[in-house]
Amino acid sequence: MFERLERMPDDPILGLMAAFRADQSPDKVDLGVGVYRNGRGETPVLEAVRRAERLVLEAQSTKTYVAPAGNAAFTQAMERLAFGASHPALISGRVRTIQGVGGCGALRLGAELIHAAAPHSIVHVSSPTWANHVPLLTGCGLELEPYPYYDPATGGIRSAEMLQALDSLPAGSVVLLHASCHNPTGADLSEEQWREVLAVVQRRRLLPFIDMAYQGLGGGVDADAFAVRLFASELPELLVAVSCSKNFGLYRERAGTLHILTESASRSEAALSHEVRIARRLYSMPPDHGAAIVSRILGDEGLRDLWRRELGDMRERILSLRRELVRQLSAACPSQDFSFIGAQRGMFSLLGVSPERVRALRADHHVYMTEDSRINIAGLSSENLEYFARSVARALA
Ligand SMILES: Cc1ncc(COP(=O)(O)O)c(C=O)c1O
Repeated sequence: MFERLERMPDDPILGLMAAFRADQSPDKVDLGVGVYRNGRGETPVLEAVRRAERLVLEAQSTKTYVAPAGNAAFTQAMERLAFGASHPALISGRVRTIQGVGGCGALRLGAELIHAAAPHSIVHVSSPTWANHVPLLTGCGLELEPYPYYDPATGGIRSAEMLQALDSLPAGSVVLLHASCHNPTGADLSEEQWREVLAVVQRRRLLPFIDMAYQGLGGGVDADAFAVRLFASELPELLVAVSCSKNFGLYRERAGTLHILTESASRSEAALSHEVRIARRLYSMPPDHGAAIVSRILGDEGLRDLWRRELGDMRERILSLRRELVRQLSAACPSQDFSFIGAQRGMFSLLGVSPERVRALRADHHVYMTEDSRINIAGLSSENLEYFARSVARALA
């Protein structure tokens, strides 16, 4: 049977990782992979996570299954983190949550639910969007269509075109939105722009599906959840996929949530019952370790404060790297304007150089980034920033 299967091409990111590992140059710089790094280039286990993990292991008396919808202490704590503890949507019981296998799992659960409710739905995604949205959302049969989003000329958002495009969609269309730290562009909607999107969503009766993979890494835990909280106050229906990979540094533990908001508690309960069936069909039960750690952290004032401080440090590091990068790039390439990088948020920005120059940066300067020139800002440090800026200047010359 398996002789029918041709070898698949390597995933471009995995190929980039392998090429970086094989590169012997002491100058090499990895800005490809989308994980947070500290000043030493490490992706460390957060101290809050270490402490919570010890408590989880001490208290754990069984490894039996939890439940298809996941760890209830975790899903409830995540609801409060995403919506804010006293959000009317939570108090009215209109939010139901299922644990996902990371943020990707949550996105897929959301897509499966949409497919179960309306199999011919089209999901409208920003142009560009995170590459993995495509297989995650189309894998269950949904179609994707892009809407205008990023403006490479300014490093900002083509907001009028975006609003116009959304305003032409038929009722019931699904719109995928990045809550903050847009991947791959780093260009986020302002609060005012979110309000404009909300007005269109209400007028056209669209279903927003918000992907919140970086809560706390852009403007702060509350600021990054602005759209989730606003939309949940004003709309009858909303889906939110949340990842704990980046803000808790729990990548391999695969913790995340899908929050379902509908018009009434009973409709949300019905939707959750579909999700439970979907989970049973796909993987049966989610892993618990990461979820148990997060619920420990969020349920303990001391650990929560420690986590918020550590998250704040990560955010500040990214912001100061952005400022320093703008300074160094402006010095190295005075004819180009890189100030947009300072206005963007989160781990990613698009440098705006051609694929040929991206390849030249790799071959001649040992600087690694994806072909679309997305750079992971957290991969920079005081050690390599100047070298990186000089290399960009040479590649652009
Ligand atoms: C935009 C976006 N959504 C979702 C995710 C989900 O990540 P994970 O499945 O690792 O939690 C990521 C991770 O890179 C992301 O960038």
